[in-house]
Amino acid sequence: MKRETVIVLDFGGQYNQLIARRVRECNVYCEIYSYKTDFEKIKAIQPKGIIFTGGPNSCYLPGAPTYTKEIFELGVPILGICYGSQLMMHLLGGKVEKAPVREYGKIEVTVDQKSKLFENVSEKTICWMSHNDYISELAPGFTVSAHTADCPYAAMENAEKRLYATQFHPEVLHTQEGQKMLSNFVFNVCGCAGDWKMDSFVEQSIKAIREKVGDGKVLCALSGGVDSSVAAVMLAKAVGEQLTCVFVDHGLLRKNEGDEVEAVFGPDGPYNLNFIRVNAQERFYSKLKGVEEPERKRKIIGEEFIRVFEEEAKKIGRVDFLVQGTIYPDVVESGVGGESTVIKSHHNVGGLPDYVDFKEIIEPLRDLFKDEVRKAGLELGIPEYLVFRQPFPGPGLGIRIIGEVTAEKVKMVQDADAIWREEIARAGWDKKVNQYFAALTNMKSVGVMGDERTYDYAVALRAVTTTDFMTAESAEIPWEIIGRATSRIVNEVKHVNRVVYDCTGKPPATIEFE
Ligand code: XMP
Repeated sequence: MKRETVIVLDFGGQYNQLIARRVRECNVYCEIYSYKTDFEKIKAIQPKGIIFTGGPNSCYLPGAPTYTKEIFELGVPILGICYGSQLMMHLLGGKVEKAPVREYGKIEVTVDQKSKLFENVSEKTICWMSHNDYISELAPGFTVSAHTADCPYAAMENAEKRLYATQFHPEVLHTQEGQKMLSNFVFNVCGCAGDWKMDSFVEQSIKAIREKVGDGKVLCALSGGVDSSVAAVMLAKAVGEQLTCVFVDHGLLRKNEGDEVEAVFGPDGPYNLNFIRVNAQERFYSKLKGVEEPERKRKIIGEEFIRVFEEEAKKIGRVDFLVQGTIYPDVVESGVGGESTVIKSHHNVGGLPDYVDFKEIIEPLRDLFKDEVRKAGLELGIPEYLVFRQPFPGPGLGIRIIGEVTAEKVKMVQDADAIWREEIARAGWDKKVNQYFAALTNMKSVGVMGDERTYDYAVALRAVTTTDFMTAESAEIPWEIIGRATSRIVNEVKHVNRVVYDCTGKPPATIEFE
C-alpha cells in the first residue's frame, strides 16, 4: 500500500529531525532526504508535500546548497523554512542579501490570517527567528503573508502554485503556534489525510514481516532496551517459533541488568521466546583493552556483537534474517539519510561491519521516532514499565567509561550508577527527568579518607530533561539528592574519591558522557 509521504529536504539545518517529527505528530508520514538526493528519486516517492529546511549557508554565495528549479514545477506543495525560504526566493527570481539587522530569538510576527498557512493562527504570534540574511525582494508571483518590525518578508506565498515560505522556524517549540502552521501546511495545503497511525503501522508491519520471512529462521539481537524489546515482540507476533532471541551480555550492562532481561524474556518470562543468553564479558574486555577513543570503542563493540550473533546463528543452524532495533534518529544521525554531520556512529547503523553473515537484516522500527516506538510497544501489549524505560546506549557502559575500559572500572561505574538511580527514584525524580546515569571520568585526583591520602577516580553524575533527545537540559536536581548520592558513592564504591555533577546541556555537550 502506498503511504502518504511528506519529504523534508535537508539543507544542513539543525532542526531537520524536528520538522519530520512535528509532521508525524499530525499523523502524516515524513522522511528526511539530503539536498544531494537525485530529483528522479524525489519524484518517484510522489510526495504529498516537500519542506525545505534551514541551513547555515548564504544561498547567494558560490557552493551553497541548492536544488534544481524543476522541483517548483512538480505541482507538489513546498514549504521553505529559513534558509529554505531564502533559497526558494533566490531560485525563483527574488533577492536575498545580508540583513541590516540580524534577528535571533523569539520575535513577534504579524500574520495575514487569510493565508492557508496561518488559518486560526493569532494575528500577532511569537516565532523563533535565527537569520543573518534576509529576503529583500520577493520572487515574481509571491505575496507577503507575515512581517516583523525588522523583517518585511517573514512569510510569503504563491498560493496558486502552492509554494509557501517562512523566515522563522515553525518546527521549534519557541514558535508558539508553529505546530498549527505545520498542520495547516500538511492538511490545508497538501491535502493529506493523516493516515500514519501506530495501530495500523503495527498491523501492517507484522503482515509484511510474515510475508518476507516465509518459513525462514530469524535471529533477534535483544538488548532489553525499548527498541530491541519492541522489535522482538513484533517479530514474535509475526513468526512465533521461527524466532530466536539472543541476548549478549557484553559485560557493559548496568548492575544486575543481565538477570533482569533474562527474567522478562527468558524461559520463565511472559513471552515464551526462544531465548539464548551469551555471557561474553571477557571477550569484549579483551577487544577493548588499551582502546581509549570513543568512536573506536563503539565500532569494536558493534562489530563484536555481530560476530557473537553470527556464531550463535551457526549453532542454531540455518539463519536467514537478523533483526535489529534500529530507529529513525539512528539512521539520520549516522549520516545515512539527511545532510547533518555525523556526530557519533550509532551502534546499529554506523557500527555495522561491512561483512555480515546473514541473508538479510530486518529493521522493523527503522522508520520510527522514539515516541512512535513506545506507542508501537503499547499497541503490542508490552508493559508500560518496559516501554517507558530510560534509554541505554547499545555500547553500554563501554562509552560511559572515559578512556580504557577494564573490568574494575565497569564495576565502579555500575555501582555508582546503581546508587545514583536508587537515590533519584527514592526522591521521585525518576518521573521528572528523562535520562540519568553515572559515568566514570578518566580523571584521578588527590583526596583524603580517614587519615590517608587517596589518589582515585572521579564519577560524573548526569540527569537531563528532554522531549526529543536531540536537545536536552541538565536537570536542576535538588542539592540534597546529589549530596546523598555523593556520600554514598564515595563511601560504597572503591577507588572513587570525588563526584561531580554535569551541568551542561545538549548542545554543546551530548546526553551521553563519552
Ligand atoms: P547523545 O549522547 O547523542 O544521545 O546526546 C542521545 C540519546 O541516544 C542515546 N544513545 C544511543 N542509543 N545506541 C543507542 O541505542 C547508541 O549507540 C547510542 N548512543 C547514544 C543516549 O543514551 C541518549 O538517550
